[in-house]
Amino acid sequence: MKNSDRGGFIYFDEKAYEILKNYLLNQIDSPKNTFILVDEKTHKYCIPILISHIDFLKESNLIQIQSGEKEKNIHTCIQICKKLEKFKATRKSLILNLGGGVITDIGGFVASIFKRGIRFVNIPTTLLGMVDASVGYKTGVNLDSIKNEIGSFYIPEFLIVDTRFLKTLPEKEILSGMAEMFKHGLIADKDFWIHMNQIKNINNINQWDHLIRHSILIKQKIVDKDPKEKGLRKILNFGHTIGHALESYFMNTEKEVLHGIAVIMGIICESWISYKINGLSIYDYKNIKSTLSGLYPMQKKIYDLSDSEIEKILMIMEYDKKNEKNKIQFSLLKEIGKCSYNCGVPLSLIKESFWK
Ligand SMILES: NC(=O)c1ccc[n+]([C@@H]2O[C@H](COP(=O)([O-])OP(=O)(O)OC[C@H]3O[C@@H](n4cnc5c(N)ncnc54)[C@H](O)[C@@H]3O)[C@@H](O)[C@H]2O)c1
Ligand SMILES: [Zn+2]
Repeated sequence: MKNSDRGGFIYFDEKAYEILKNYLLNQIDSPKNTFILVDEKTHKYCIPILISHIDFLKESNLIQIQSGEKEKNIHTCIQICKKLEKFKATRKSLILNLGGGVITDIGGFVASIFKRGIRFVNIPTTLLGMVDASVGYKTGVNLDSIKNEIGSFYIPEFLIVDTRFLKTLPEKEILSGMAEMFKHGLIADKDFWIHMNQIKNINNINQWDHLIRHSILIKQKIVDKDPKEKGLRKILNFGHTIGHALESYFMNTEKEVLHGIAVIMGIICESWISYKINGLSIYDYKNIKSTLSGLYPMQKKIYDLSDSEIEKILMIMEYDKKNEKNKIQFSLLKEIGKCSYNCGVPLSLIKESFWK
């Protein structure tokens, strides 16, 4: 599958390792010039799988950061740059990002700025990383609690998708990744949404390869039509205007809210707004709400927001970079499988959607 005219091919499973191995042998002068970025969990669970396929990578330099969204900041990038410097990275070095969306976002961003840009490869090890974070050339870090405020568009050499990494991924992380798959169906592919609705048991994820591939394809097609998010690509933000604000808000509290879980809540609220002002039928709204709240019961706990908490979340949204002309801009569903973008929504309706 081709990801872009300028690189960024997507490869799957065994074939992917063969291609990566040949690339490293032919394009990188020494294994020492490859820098593998991991966190402590991907170090433990994913490095052995990678090395079992490409053994000379055990001679490469490992850069480990602590796992977690809180680490996705500019200070971590500086630490990584210092490690690259210490290990004598050159403009011909390669960063191999082995991890979830946090690793691929940070590693891609560092690759885009270190020595004005070096090459990188993404090997996502979470479901969310596979179907979303590592597809579409966006890299970046958070600025305090503002999500992805600093970043760049930067194209990897490859994206390697091996769903065997998912075996060690906790259930809550699988649910988080599934949120983006549901979103892909809702915004662009009704049949895919119907297929996703048929998943009853998330433990047999090894049987979902076709769904994961299809989900990647949906995102890739949208990105290819509008790589820099001038228009159509904004539909991928469905569920994210509210979702990101919730995520930013909870980042400063004791509650752990994963990206995908915040997005599920965002999808439910934004489906309500879609019903109110964008022509989504009440039938579709109810279908979305009942499907998602059945699979994600934990959202009820987080939904227990006080008035003052909702005010704070609305304030975060007002700072969101997607705002234009003093209106909060949303991507909203017209029907399941069709989405509009640049829809201005009044604060009162956003507030109302939290109570539905
Ligand atoms: N760039 C983009 O277009 C884009 C799109 C969507 C999301 N994102 C970003 O992605 C991030 C979320 O990504 P995520 O959900 O993958 O989170 P994550 O990277 O924090 O990974 C989740 C957890 O799983 C662990 N983990 C990773 N792989 C594992 C494995 N195979 N086995 C066991 N544990 C493993 C990690 O250590 C971490 O604790 C957010 O920062 C979000 O903003 C970026
Ligand atoms: Zn997302």
